[in-house]
Amino acid sequence: MSSPPSSPRTSDVLVVGGGIIGLVTAWRAAQHGLATAVVDPEPGGGAAQVAAGMLAAVTELHYGEQTLLALNLASARRYPDFAAELTDLTGHDLGYRRCGTLAVALDADDRAHLRELHALQQRSGLESEWLAGRECRRLEPMLAPGVRGGLRVDGDHQIDPRRLARALVAACERSGVVLHRTRAGRLTVAGGRATGVVTADGTALAAGQVVLAAGSLSGRLAGVPKDVLPPVRPVKGQVLRLTMPRSHGPLLSRTVRAVVRGNPVYLVPRESGELVVGATSEELGWDTTVTAGGVYELLRDAHELVPGITELPLTETRAGLRPGSPDNAPLLGPTGLPGLLLATGHYRNGVLLTPVTGDVMAHVLTTGELPDEARPFTPRRFGAAAALMEQPA
Ligand code: GLY
Repeated sequence: MSSPPSSPRTSDVLVVGGGIIGLVTAWRAAQHGLATAVVDPEPGGGAAQVAAGMLAAVTELHYGEQTLLALNLASARRYPDFAAELTDLTGHDLGYRRCGTLAVALDADDRAHLRELHALQQRSGLESEWLAGRECRRLEPMLAPGVRGGLRVDGDHQIDPRRLARALVAACERSGVVLHRTRAGRLTVAGGRATGVVTADGTALAAGQVVLAAGSLSGRLAGVPKDVLPPVRPVKGQVLRLTMPRSHGPLLSRTVRAVVRGNPVYLVPRESGELVVGATSEELGWDTTVTAGGVYELLRDAHELVPGITELPLTETRAGLRPGSPDNAPLLGPTGLPGLLLATGHYRNGVLLTPVTGDVMAHVLTTGELPDEARPFTPRRFGAAAALMEQPA
């Protein structure tokens, strides 16, 4: 348990951004005895309010992302203990469900693509099983009759990111983290070192180390020297929430996903009866409009997989911004500016990477060194070229 800061405006560690990544960093730092504060107008908000919460290290494997796979798997392995610890501390149920995932194909092209993914998974030593269409429907009877085959991945689970965010706020509060419910206006730098931030209302918050963990906004904090500004950009995702009736048994017993005409779509059924359908992937800057086209495409593709969804109430439509990075992997650890660290750029894997990010950041904040598993994710890998990359307007 950490000791509280001597002044609420001075801390060992100041985390800019109170989404799940900033909160887990703060919680773990406080557990390591560092006086820690978070600055965010709405701790627990951010992309986690939109995300579906798939813990999909295997079904989200992409060519060329083997290095990221190792970190994703390291975090997936931590999830059972991480969730239990958080629930024990806060009393919050996180909706952690070891339900598995079924990735299916609807036509010959999708089937060939899924076969290749299966081969890649096997070469990578991952557990997944190829199923014929009828075997997929035996597992999930509500699947469309046209399903041509699929991959059963029992190790890809889910969590409810909204519950996770609430639990992390509670964990921070219980661990003595000071939550400044305001916006960081500008990084302060003195003597070649980050020294804190000035908030939007003009309050100076001083800290020995500053962690920039503001998701897609991380590249926009005023005062950060250009050569250490993280090359993150917003990637819009529109997500729908439907409600499954409890009376007829579960519509789906596990996450179902597919690529339909080139568009990835997933359906994540929660025990609460919520069915999350996602997600678009749009490079539209800071726009978070829910569009008729986005909703139409998600419902059209989800309906091709599970025709019965058209009967369900549509209870929520929302868009969030993933923090994209140039190689789709996070930026973790020290920057070229002493005292300034990053925990951002988690792109499609923020929920999955939350446990390992907390551990990595606590390690680097207490020792000054990245642990071996996180060395490939140093922000320094982008160098000067990335700093010159045009930042989103
Ligand atoms: N991880 C799923 C998504 O970003 O849509």
